[in-house]
Amino acid sequence: MSPMEPHGGKLVNLFASDAHKHELAKKAQGLKHRVLNQRELSDLELLSIGGFSPLEGFMTQPDYKRVVSEMRLASGLPWSIPVTLSFSKEEAAAMKEGQEIALADESSKILAVMTIQQVYPYDKQDEAKNVYRTTEEAHPGVAAVYKQSEMLAGGKIQVLEEVPHAEHQAYRLTPAQTRAAFEQRAWKTIVGFQTRNPVHRAHEYIQKVALETVDGLLLHPLVGETKGDDIPADVRMKCYIALMEGYYPKDRALLSVLPAAMRYAGPREAIFHAIMRKNYGCTHFIVGRDHAGVGSYYGTYDAQKIFSEYKPGELGIQTMFFENTFFCKTCGSMASSKTCPHDATHQYSLSGTKMRQMLTEGQMLPVEISRPEVAKILIDNAKAQAAPK
Ligand code: ADX
Repeated sequence: MSPMEPHGGKLVNLFASDAHKHELAKKAQGLKHRVLNQRELSDLELLSIGGFSPLEGFMTQPDYKRVVSEMRLASGLPWSIPVTLSFSKEEAAAMKEGQEIALADESSKILAVMTIQQVYPYDKQDEAKNVYRTTEEAHPGVAAVYKQSEMLAGGKIQVLEEVPHAEHQAYRLTPAQTRAAFEQRAWKTIVGFQTRNPVHRAHEYIQKVALETVDGLLLHPLVGETKGDDIPADVRMKCYIALMEGYYPKDRALLSVLPAAMRYAGPREAIFHAIMRKNYGCTHFIVGRDHAGVGSYYGTYDAQKIFSEYKPGELGIQTMFFENTFFCKTCGSMASSKTCPHDATHQYSLSGTKMRQMLTEGQMLPVEISRPEVAKILIDNAKAQAAPK
């Protein structure tokens, strides 16, 4: 076990024991089914494997309310994003406390059983305003909240089956497995890196600067649902694999995926991302510029500032903040305004948005922006996308 204590003290595992599973599976066949969408499946998976420790199910009202208004669970433990399951008014009216329902994927395969503890109304605009800092439907995270049904139901979950996946099997380590891998490598300090974009030189730079001061790097791309114009997860994974092969010491970096869906909640999501990485066993977490942001909803460093809303040490994972980094043609290296005196005319700026834009326009990605192996994967993908179907 990594020395890092999981959030709330205990790594949650919601899988039903072998002795109980058969009976539960039989019972589940006769229960009402709730089919989960991609985002809800991601949440179920993270609940199941302890990525959301200490949560043991979808939130009940006391947790939900305090998370939205104060960034804490009812217990007072820091938590920044609601993890909820919604139901129509009709479904909610027919539900009783203590009732069990089956949670299924889109092929109707039953994955888990939830015991309804509480059914409650909620205010979507209030959630949007507090969690996303905007009520605009143009924000993809807000749009997802608005699309939910009118009522929420919370309660504990017992899991029968792993959420099935066709992709990235070799890279789907659970929190218990990343912790075991860290232990095996004798890493005591581990920095986690969240990403949803194809890896560029600024990502590599901040990871490696961080790695200079800790034992290991968990390169932990998010592969759950992202907005339509983000590069697909399988293409991003090819880029990370190429980068790991060519540019990282094997005994100091581990590539594994995070099955979470992106919320694009910027500052609030940075905290959420840090808590999950704590559960995966990281002691440190990188937050760069505009972490988990979208459009211009958040200030460049809002996702760093928000951490000071908790008491020092309260979150239980150490943040490593980075300024906007770029390639400086005059310095001939990656840099930031902390380390480079030259103005913007000397710089290649680096961001996922800029890379996507260059690829759509059919431009080459220079070595200052992307490693050649990564550029090739991205350009091939852009060509395949542009080719007539
Ligand atoms: S995110 O939505 O997952 O945050 P992305 O994959 O682009 O998007 O970023 C991963 C991490 O790298 C985040 O912590 C982000 O702040 C950081 N980052 C991305 N680009 C830069 C950059 N040019 N300078 C500093 N940090 C950056």
